[in-house]
Amino acid sequence: MALPNFAFFRGRIVPYGEAKVGVMTHTLHYGTGVFGGIRGYWNEDENQLFVFRPHEHFRRFLGSAKLLCMEFPYSEEGLTRILFDLLKTENFRTDCYIRPLAYYADEIIGVRLHDLHPELAIISIPFGSYVDDEEGLHITVSSWRRVDDNMIPARGKITGAYVNSALAKTDAQRSGFGEALVLNQDGHISEGSAENFFIIRRGVACTPPVTDNILEGITRRTVMDLLRDEIGVEVEERAIDRTEIYLADEAFFCGTGVQIAAITKIDHRPVGSGRMGPVTAQLRKTYFDVVRGRVAKYLHWCAPVYQGAPAAGTPA
Ligand SMILES: Cc1ncc(COP(=O)(O)O)c(C=O)c1O
Repeated sequence: MALPNFAFFRGRIVPYGEAKVGVMTHTLHYGTGVFGGIRGYWNEDENQLFVFRPHEHFRRFLGSAKLLCMEFPYSEEGLTRILFDLLKTENFRTDCYIRPLAYYADEIIGVRLHDLHPELAIISIPFGSYVDDEEGLHITVSSWRRVDDNMIPARGKITGAYVNSALAKTDAQRSGFGEALVLNQDGHISEGSAENFFIIRRGVACTPPVTDNILEGITRRTVMDLLRDEIGVEVEERAIDRTEIYLADEAFFCGTGVQIAAITKIDHRPVGSGRMGPVTAQLRKTYFDVVRGRVAKYLHWCAPVYQGAPAAGTPA
């Protein structure tokens, strides 16, 4: 994977090689950081880089930081401006992935969240697909359970909690599956290792509620809007049993990284026909048009980088 050329680090944009932390850094030892994942989409016809819903991403990022008692003098708008400066410095004319990271920079021993000094860094790299096959994943239900809200809140994007995701993902891939689907403590479906989950059953789209230990995905909310308003499919947020997914007509993952990835097999059972279903196919097409800034109705979700001040992403 290519490294970035630049980073926003300790309050300014510096060459990436200068963005370094010491090996004693608190977050490196205790997982006390938070991060975000945002995509920029290059639109060749418009000669424009569109960042998808940056304000919503930075709002969640600052919310995750708040869960870990981090205080920053930045707003969503301020972070969007910093991001745009970074992307202009990188001069990207390609799709890219953006990673804001907030971490406790103190080089000390002692596990806690108070009396520490948070720092912020942002980097971006050119980026394509996150999973090998967005059109037909074979996934498995993981034997690992999702972290519970009273253990490590899944609604925060907390670095330490990604050990949970990594355990599930590696087990799944070493067993020959493309991704893991993780259950919560009740045995209901929670989400994938780094993506939210939907099934289509009897014409209705169902996705686990935010109280089932999921990350409150920005793509999830986007998908819910597009399903209802563009595809005409009703959406229910409700607990999903494990065996329901084996009987679903369609299933897919969604997230900034994975975008919309069709799930065509779960634990060796075909989902529906065993091929990507019509709702997923239509949703993928609509989603890719929307994120690339090709649908006037949703241009307010796409913030153009190359024209002076950042355009407003719509507050959620
Ligand atoms: C655990 C987890 N769930 C869901 C998502 C999807 O969230 P979003 O759509 O905001 O990228 C991600 C990706 O960031 C994730 O890491």
